[in-house]
Amino acid sequence: MDHYRSRSPNSSYHSRHSAYDRERGDRGRNRCENQRLRPNNHRQHQSELAAEKNPQNSRALSTRRELYERDFPVYKQPVEVGNFSLDSERRFFNDSRQMRYYVEPDRNPNFNLRDGYKDRFIKRDDSVKEKLSHILRWVIANRSKLTTRMTTASPCALDVDFVTWRGHLTKLLTTPYETREGWMLAATKFRGTIYISEVETEAAQRERENRTERHEEMMYWGYKFEQYMCADNVHSAPDPDGVVNTNEAFCTVVQTRLADHRLLFSGEVDCRDKDPSAPAPPTCYIELKTSAEICTPKQRSNLHRFKLLKWWAQSFLPGVPRVVAGFRDHEGVVVSVETFHISKISQLIKNEYNCWRPTVCMNFCCDFLSFVKRAVTEDSHSVVYLFSWEPHKDVTYSVHRDSQYSFLPHWFIDEMSTRPDSHHQS
Ligand code: A3P
Ligand code: MG
Repeated sequence: MDHYRSRSPNSSYHSRHSAYDRERGDRGRNRCENQRLRPNNHRQHQSELAAEKNPQNSRALSTRRELYERDFPVYKQPVEVGNFSLDSERRFFNDSRQMRYYVEPDRNPNFNLRDGYKDRFIKRDDSVKEKLSHILRWVIANRSKLTTRMTTASPCALDVDFVTWRGHLTKLLTTPYETREGWMLAATKFRGTIYISEVETEAAQRERENRTERHEEMMYWGYKFEQYMCADNVHSAPDPDGVVNTNEAFCTVVQTRLADHRLLFSGEVDCRDKDPSAPAPPTCYIELKTSAEICTPKQRSNLHRFKLLKWWAQSFLPGVPRVVAGFRDHEGVVVSVETFHISKISQLIKNEYNCWRPTVCMNFCCDFLSFVKRAVTEDSHSVVYLFSWEPHKDVTYSVHRDSQYSFLPHWFIDEMSTRPDSHHQS
């Protein structure tokens, strides 16, 4: 069922011209930018001259909001096709052992989010770039669920166009409204499927390496809130005296379709409704967030205009219907908790002046994926198409062969080159 289909009976996604088509007149300017963005080891894209004559090969995509103000694209209800867990040492398990259960808090919770920061916190090493490795492990363990065609030429083609993290898609959804942080996304086509993996920008690396102590502590608060709100078992209570270990994760893997793009992506899930009669995943999942206490109408408006965009994008993508937010004071104490229903957010923001719109987010993501499909023509595990974007600029890309950007691991390529039924334990 296409629950998220546009309600306008006269609208047809396919009958509309994409923003890409309307923006193609800009390609001369964008080619110059692309020259500047291209790293030294890059080999010139073969079809660049052709791009001059053929707008379908244009090298840039605009992110201007007004180009994406059209009917909401078809977005199929996401279906959970599996899940996996990462333990306290970041080891992968093809099961739900790290699932946690939501426990409703008091009206005035008074959770002290600073507790345990110094003595009961094990922080994941975020300088280690895991790229898509956990999702690829899951794909290997579950590929019979994802393959229908089995031919000699293509022994293991997945029935999806894109494989990526939900977080990468969230960045795409929010791009038309983002004014501060750019991104780089590496794309590789392998056996007909395009894998998309983020590359840390220099600016993001600088920021990560120069966080203030206050910022480091505030990042902990979000995880501490999760500990106050979640139990390890259906019948147990949260344990705020325990250790917060951010290596641990439970991830859902969902399949869906955005217009004609078949997507497989994974995202971390904070917890689920513990009622055994709750709907099946992903509908029983709950996202937890923290935010500064709201004392003025202006602060409420800012929550709607900026935070709700991120919260909506993150949860709408995998079909998680609820966000439970803990509002904290300056001392890091949660003073109130409020539930936001993802399906009601567009109503909530509609009176805000100059606010974000879900349709712009989804249409931009859709057009970006079309742009990627047109650009990523060579099917090779060692070729990376690197898409880059900085605020107030267009998305451009460069092509890299056997470079530091290659991200599909050898074990994945080898495993995908064998038939699932000829699998052997090595
Ligand atoms: P909050 O979002 O409540 O601050 P998530 O909400 O996506 O499950 O992430 C859990 C917590 O991880 C966040 O809680 C925050 O503490 C931390 N976190 C996640 N992404 C972050 C980012 N880009 N910068 C800083 N902290 C982040
Ligand atoms: Mg969360």
